[in-house]
Amino acid sequence: MKIWAHRGCSQIYPENTMLSFSKAAKIEGLTGIELDIQLTKDNRIVVCHDEKVDRTTDGIGEVRNYTLKELKKLRIDAGNGTYEKIPTIEEVLDLLENRMMNGLKLNIELKNSRIPYDGMEEKIIELIHGRNLQKNVVYSSFNALSLQKIRELDVETEIGILDSKVSDCLFKLRGGCGANALHPYWKGIDLPADQIKDYSVRAYLGGHLYPEKPTGTKLDLAALTQKGITDVFLNEPEQYLN
Ligand code: G3P
Ligand code: CA
Repeated sequence: MKIWAHRGCSQIYPENTMLSFSKAAKIEGLTGIELDIQLTKDNRIVVCHDEKVDRTTDGIGEVRNYTLKELKKLRIDAGNGTYEKIPTIEEVLDLLENRMMNGLKLNIELKNSRIPYDGMEEKIIELIHGRNLQKNVVYSSFNALSLQKIRELDVETEIGILDSKVSDCLFKLRGGCGANALHPYWKGIDLPADQIKDYSVRAYLGGHLYPEKPTGTKLDLAALTQKGITDVFLNEPEQYLN
């Protein structure tokens, strides 16, 4: 089973921050790191899960209504009187580039199902190609049309289609979104393993996020492998790899 850090090490550090990514980058045996991107008012790509800043920062409102400069004033509470900021994708790439050159993968999820950010696909492809990191990236989205655009812009890149059920991932994939991997919810494996055996099946989980208290429950990864899952996105990768 391949293990990815979901939004970085997001169970013990605030999700999608330089802190959560830097901790993940130190984990030996980690396959990759997953993160989410949004676009600011001034068209900068930032790493943030929600369309709004309310849940993770001390601000309110939608990311798209903030300029990068305004967004950078918001604080993400990291405990013990310390704070993080919403990172730009460039800052995260600066941090991870060397590790990526040495095999660490980066799954960039385009968060464009609710807000169809105009030009996001072109922007992220240009940035990744500009750094020659295209072989180290997997793009994903719930939005099949967006993935189709990614495929048109980069015929070789790896693309994962997100949905709750693996059957819906497969349906979208066969509909021509250009994906070559399935990214279902881990409880949505509704097809026999035999029918998905030709794909990377990277499952996302719920689980606790900082600052919720973790339960310490461990997954039976062997049982998930039996179901045809090849990779898991975990909030607590350090518990499985260290
Ligand atoms: O990419 C897998 C997973 O991150 C999708 O769900 O809501 O955590 O972005 P979410
Ligand atoms: Ca995500």
